[in-house]
Amino acid sequence: MKHLSPMTCGTGEASNVNKRTLYEQDRIAVCSQKRAVGIALLVFVGLFFVAVIIAFATPLSGCSFLNGSIDTEPLTDEELLEHNRFILPSGEEFPWNKSRLPDFVRPLHYTIQIHPNLTTLDVTGWVVIQFIVLNETDFIVFHSRNLRVIDKWVKEEVEDPHRVEPHNISRLLEYPPFQQMYLELAEGSKLVPGKNYSLGIRFYTNISTELEGFYLSSYVNSQGERRYLATTHFEPTYARSAFPCFDEPQFKATFKMIIIRNQQHKSLFNMPIKKIETVYYGYHMELWRDEFEESVEMSTYLVAFVICDYESISNKTTKGVEVAIHTPPGLLPQASFALQSAIQVMEYYDEFFGVPYPLPKQDLIAIPDFGAGAMENFGLITYRETSILYDSNESSSAAHQWVAVVLAHELAHQWFGNLVTMKWWNDLWLNEGFASFIEYVGVDHIRPEWKMMEQFVIEKTQPALALDALGSSHPISVEVQDPREIEAIFDTISYNKGAAILRMLESVLGLNVLRHGLTDYLNEHKFDNADTKDLWDALSTSTNETMKVKTVMDTWTLQMGYPLIEVRCENNTVKATQERFLLNPADNETGVELIQSPFKYKWYVPLTYVTDAKPRTMQLVWMNMNEFTMPYRAEWIKFNVNQTGFYRVHYQGKLWDSLVKTLLSNPFVLSPTDRASLIDDAFTLCKAGVVDASVPLEIAKYLMKETDYVPWATALEHFRSWSKILYERQAHRLLMQFVLKLIEPIYKRVGWADEGSHLMKVHLLLSYSSSSLHTIRLLRSEILSTAILCDNKEAVKEATTKFNNWMQKGARVPPNLREVVYSAGIKYGGVVGWDHCWAQYNASRIPSEKKLLLKAMGSAADPWLLQQYLDACLSRDVVRPQDVRTVLAVVASNPSGRLLAWRHLRAYWMNFQNLFGEGSFTMGSLITAVVSHFSSEFDYVEVTNFFSDVDVGSGARALNQSLEMIRLNIRWLQNNENQIEDWLRKYLST
Ligand SMILES: *[C@@H]1O[C@H](CO)[C@@H](O)[C@H](O)[C@H]1NC(C)=O
Ligand SMILES: *[C@@H]1O[C@H](CO)[C@@H](O)[C@H](O)[C@H]1NC(C)=O
Repeated sequence: MKHLSPMTCGTGEASNVNKRTLYEQDRIAVCSQKRAVGIALLVFVGLFFVAVIIAFATPLSGCSFLNGSIDTEPLTDEELLEHNRFILPSGEEFPWNKSRLPDFVRPLHYTIQIHPNLTTLDVTGWVVIQFIVLNETDFIVFHSRNLRVIDKWVKEEVEDPHRVEPHNISRLLEYPPFQQMYLELAEGSKLVPGKNYSLGIRFYTNISTELEGFYLSSYVNSQGERRYLATTHFEPTYARSAFPCFDEPQFKATFKMIIIRNQQHKSLFNMPIKKIETVYYGYHMELWRDEFEESVEMSTYLVAFVICDYESISNKTTKGVEVAIHTPPGLLPQASFALQSAIQVMEYYDEFFGVPYPLPKQDLIAIPDFGAGAMENFGLITYRETSILYDSNESSSAAHQWVAVVLAHELAHQWFGNLVTMKWWNDLWLNEGFASFIEYVGVDHIRPEWKMMEQFVIEKTQPALALDALGSSHPISVEVQDPREIEAIFDTISYNKGAAILRMLESVLGLNVLRHGLTDYLNEHKFDNADTKDLWDALSTSTNETMKVKTVMDTWTLQMGYPLIEVRCENNTVKATQERFLLNPADNETGVELIQSPFKYKWYVPLTYVTDAKPRTMQLVWMNMNEFTMPYRAEWIKFNVNQTGFYRVHYQGKLWDSLVKTLLSNPFVLSPTDRASLIDDAFTLCKAGVVDASVPLEIAKYLMKETDYVPWATALEHFRSWSKILYERQAHRLLMQFVLKLIEPIYKRVGWADEGSHLMKVHLLLSYSSSSLHTIRLLRSEILSTAILCDNKEAVKEATTKFNNWMQKGARVPPNLREVVYSAGIKYGGVVGWDHCWAQYNASRIPSEKKLLLKAMGSAADPWLLQQYLDACLSRDVVRPQDVRTVLAVVASNPSGRLLAWRHLRAYWMNFQNLFGEGSFTMGSLITAVVSHFSSEFDYVEVTNFFSDVDVGSGARALNQSLEMIRLNIRWLQNNENQIEDWLRKYLST
């Protein structure tokens, strides 16, 4: 699954109230119609008896419901109670007392039929699960969530199904907290090892209106009609709400799917369609029955199916795999980039992994309502629209890059995750960390000029380093049991730290050794499961055992945090020591607990460096859980080359002075990522109180010479964070002046033309080799937004003029300027500008444009507009539930909206909890987005008090982290405010 950062996304559901209103109308109408049909049915039943028998006499096996009426009217509650009379709500003790299933029952093959009705939302279905038992048993336990079991049987699998009678079932118990069912055979009946059995269940459920399980989505077509589709999202634990199953990743099985649908729809599954037939339902209803090819062995969370009325385009890879993109009608022109890139990336991965893609086809589909960024279902990848659609005339370079990155992420999972799957969710970090690393390798291959490996540090490494320096962080490898805990680890640590430490490993091993190890790992475990140790073993083998990969990596995966490497120079010797880096000292006052580590917070650190003697040649020494010394005779030395290591460096005395001198006099002798890493370390060490504020401020002066995107993005991120904390202080105005002064040279250089004149391009490219047109565009967008943030008069005028020309005369705004022009227009434009954007937001059919507008509308200065915007999120017909988080996050990050967002979160906490589900990772990200930038004691107490009697579910860790960040902000402000003010005043007056 591709994660979204809070500012780029939103997820979840609208309010509970609205959840109901949406379909009630339809439902009532349909019910009464059904009753009428029922009466008519009695009359015609005789006539159609024969036809029904023929239609449903599937040759599957000898169970009654397979030959009889597969699809019946949904049962009334009383009938259901009758059918499920063994399922007691709470009285009887549930005999299985673990949240994990027993491991002596192993599913081999599923046959599933689903008949969903997109109008009534009824779903009837059945599943037949073939399984073996490893131990003699008289019960089986499997997963089921919100499914009403209508019929069930267990029988031995033999050649002639009529030869055996089903086992007598004594009871079927459901235990909702574990989402499990316990099926027990009658006295004397046993399942014995060595025989195959099958479990049949007929069930009834509804298409969900949340963003998980089997759920409903919709879009409005070009004629203004709303069209519905039904789709699935199963990771990590929602397959069980679509059909009964053994819903743990190690229970791989093959799947055969049958979908019943209307003629105007089509259906998609992990595998291609095998045959389509018409079937008769009731007395007059002609429906279509799609039967799919049997899948390969795979985990339940990777199963997917969609029923929709989409259009598609397709092409073939050189290996003959059919790749298709599916979109709502009219959006196909925005899919061609995805199609072309998907094919290129798949061909590259085939070669990179050394294992061919195992399925005959790959479908990629745009889903209008989607919680995450995308989901890697085997052969049927689902995407949020902004993660797959790209319009070269309308979308920005950032949007372009995002589509490529998400594509490459999900495609990497087809091998790493789908073909070989983690045994259990505690290795989620490996699955996601790996895909988050390889996505950059994949995009780097098809777009080398995008400098993906440079951007890696700002997108992955730096955010992970920032979070993992909190005492409330966690080791990337964690024990998890129930769905809530599993949901909570889809976080920055699993994704970004996972990616960053794999990148660090790659920088030591080399891409080729890594690749060979991976090929062996995939070949050895394909269509099966593996754990982290298996990967480390394969990689060790691939180094000819010259490196004990597991020993090294365990220190990075099994303990939280990372080291601060302190380097000092004495008597021509450099001495490096390591200790755990924490932003807040661990003591009672900060509330940071001291959690013990099995490695006592020491690491195997691959310490890399460059010196002035050979500034382009990286040298490597290992700090094996201890210190390190070496002779030193250089002018300067820079450690953690290109910030590929997951650690920070604190240079003492003259080592630091010589680096600052180099940065100020000759910055380009250091690579862009080395410059970025010096900035990032200096600001962060200041945050932790290791150095004072003059250190980052002094080095920031060099930025007047900086022309590269990555160092700028790093510095501006830190300045934005300072600005948020200082916002209500006198130093804020000075800080803005300082930043304006720093960006002045580059502001002139990047200018306001989207393409950049050819001359400027050549100029930039020639002087500093790292820039490309793409990165210049990204840089321009950063710089212009910063100019607006600092209220630079000229920039504001330029942007608002463009905005007004667009609003009044329909003048086109170049895609890469839109973010800054829209935000400036909203910030300075009042109600008229806001209303215009709102109208455009509702009219546009370009997802990237809608997303830009959604973000821009949060930058209004008028509190009434912001309040109106927040209120719009309470109605799912107005703002899609998937976008609620984005709106809350942009309003909260706008100083005028900060307190409004906080009040809104408190006032509607229950609504949000109902929408997103208390187990969803979204709740945590809402908390972080809204409160983590507070910096006063008063706010701290308020946040603490509010959450003291609220159950935050899987948001608990995010809440702790947010509280720790507030403490950090308070302390930082106390210790640095005066000094920053003095320094800035002095600097600006000279
Ligand atoms: C299943 O059988 C194996 C070997 O006979 C035994 O070690 C194991 O404990 C049994 N498991 C259960 C759950 O009874
Ligand atoms: C869904 O229900 C409606 C109304 O009862 C009916 O017209 C339609 O054909 C049904 N569709 C399917 C796929 O069953």
